[in-house]
Amino acid sequence: MSSSVPEHIAIIMDGNGRWAKERGLPRTAGHKEGGEALKRTINACKDLGVKYLSVYAFSTENWKRPEEEVSFLQGLLLQALHNEVKKLAKVGVRLRFLGDLSAFNSELRENMRKAEEATADNSNHQLNIMLNYGSQDEIVRAINQAIKEGKEVTRESFSQLLYTSGIPDPELIIRTSGEQRLSNFMLWQAAYSELWFTDAYWPDFNKELLQQAIDDYNSRARRFGGL
Ligand code: IPE
Ligand code: IPE
Ligand code: MG
Repeated sequence: MSSSVPEHIAIIMDGNGRWAKERGLPRTAGHKEGGEALKRTINACKDLGVKYLSVYAFSTENWKRPEEEVSFLQGLLLQALHNEVKKLAKVGVRLRFLGDLSAFNSELRENMRKAEEATADNSNHQLNIMLNYGSQDEIVRAINQAIKEGKEVTRESFSQLLYTSGIPDPELIIRTSGEQRLSNFMLWQAAYSELWFTDAYWPDFNKELLQQAIDDYNSRARRFGGL
């Protein structure tokens, strides 16, 4: 069994609401604790030498949720930008925000832009936060871009029209909370990703579970259609 750490791990961070419900807490408490799990996971990925970590933070479908929850999530992000960006910059993490960011208010957009700018020179680790991200949206956008340019696309040139342009496809996609679906996440990029599911809710995710996912990944035969 060859042992290697994936270059790119993507995570569908799910189960914040159920984590809170089990404790008789409001869903928002689950999102707050989910933020702590994300910090732990960023550190764990750094320690293990994972180059790219992509996390699904808000989908194009999540606007269907109650307005209070949607605005709480945006507030949490703004707070995290204020508190965490300097630290991430210092420890060598480059931050990217991927998705249709035009839906967010100018304060949030400006802070995301500044965070990307402040960390742009870091090259050892990259954290992609997928926000108002939906893979179908991403693909349609890319198709329209290609039509505008009037050029036929190849697989390579098409990839470059996606939000993830320049980022290798994830070798491993993790989803927490027991759900086993992609929910419009990286449909193109997941073509040959290994999928790993855990019943743990996102706020309970930790380095041990990450290591389990990586060990499991290492035990699999990736054939890419070959023998
Ligand atoms: C994931 O947790 C976080 C977001 C989608 C923003 P959920 O909020 O989906 O939690 P559950 O699935 O309702 O438990
Ligand atoms: C997927 O979780 C989106 C994020 C984790 C941001 P959801 O909770 O929105 O997915 P469904 O509705 O269970 O498929
Ligand atoms: Mg969910």
